Amino acid sequence: MSTPADRLARLADGYLVTQLLFAAVALGVPEALAAGPRSADDLAAELGAAPGPLYRVLRGLAAEEVVEERPDGRFALTAVGAHLLPAAPVSLRGVVTARGEVYYEAAAGLVGALRGGNAPYEVVHGQAFFAHLAADPSRLAAFQASMADRSAREAGAVVAAYDVAPFRSVVDVGGGGGVLLRAVRARAPHADLVLFDRPEVVASVDDPGVRPVAGDFFDAVPAGADAYLLSRVLHDWDDHDALRVLRTCRAAMRPDSVLAVVEAVLPECAVDDPAAVRMDLHMLVLLKGRERTAAEYAALLDAADLRLTGDVPTRAGVHVLEARVR
Ligand SMILES: C[S@@+](CC[C@H](N)C(=O)[O-])C[C@H]1O[C@@H](n2cnc3c(N)ncnc32)[C@H](O)[C@@H]1O
Repeated sequence: MSTPADRLARLADGYLVTQLLFAAVALGVPEALAAGPRSADDLAAELGAAPGPLYRVLRGLAAEEVVEERPDGRFALTAVGAHLLPAAPVSLRGVVTARGEVYYEAAAGLVGALRGGNAPYEVVHGQAFFAHLAADPSRLAAFQASMADRSAREAGAVVAAYDVAPFRSVVDVGGGGGVLLRAVRARAPHADLVLFDRPEVVASVDDPGVRPVAGDFFDAVPAGADAYLLSRVLHDWDDHDALRVLRTCRAAMRPDSVLAVVEAVLPECAVDDPAAVRMDLHMLVLLKGRERTAAEYAALLDAADLRLTGDVPTRAGVHVLEARVR
């Protein structure tokens, strides 16, 4: 039976699990196991890895039930590990890559940041998160892949819960790779869809059905659309900067435009929604952002001269907070 000390020891070794998962993805282990069980030697030869260390990594993954260690010594992908495959219906490959390649080092700056007040990412890298990503295509791709994985889980749930069909023009502010806009297109096929994001992000969006517009949402966003989407953007910023983003959107809105804020809403007790609490900690580690309660979002909207007109929960955990011009 596992004791509280066993539990704590396992929690303390969490750093290993993050890197075991990342190593598996970086080497291509899930794809190599997709066709069936393989021995460590066999895998090592195919993937160009050292057989001894790869065997030990596979055993570590077996202890976490990501792979299964067969009696004949071969390793097979489990239902958990299958989510590492790029083509899995729910792929967490980007999520794993971002944590291993981008978030991991920053988390080591937490203690220093708690004492100093800056975001751990900035403490570790000496540069703010998005500026640092912009200078490193591999990190930027890892982060955007994680956004795309998460957005793939959320986008369908958002448009199923919140009716976007009436909109003729939609601007997705900080829209990343455009996953949410593609879900909008399925419901509003004739709408003009604008993906607004930083230049290095829109440069990699290749979708003829979406109009990419590069810019800075602290300066201005395209004006006069029926609807503005802000999905998982406000949580990146502290109240001061979140308010700046909202005011830019407010300035672009017509009197009858709608703003749909897509965010997790923090629970009363952490155990009621551990995923939202973990996302809040990612914001603490990477940026100066935070997750918020519904009342905190209402207050922010109010300060930007907007009023909260709806709070629509979705099956993916995030809410659509609808706001209109006051
Ligand atoms: C957490 S991601 C969310 C992406 C997407 N909306 C989603 O739901 O997956 C935040 C996005 O804001 C963009 N962003 C950050 N700073 C920006 C700025 N100053 N102007 C425009 N976009 C910005 C990032 O490039 C990134 O795509």
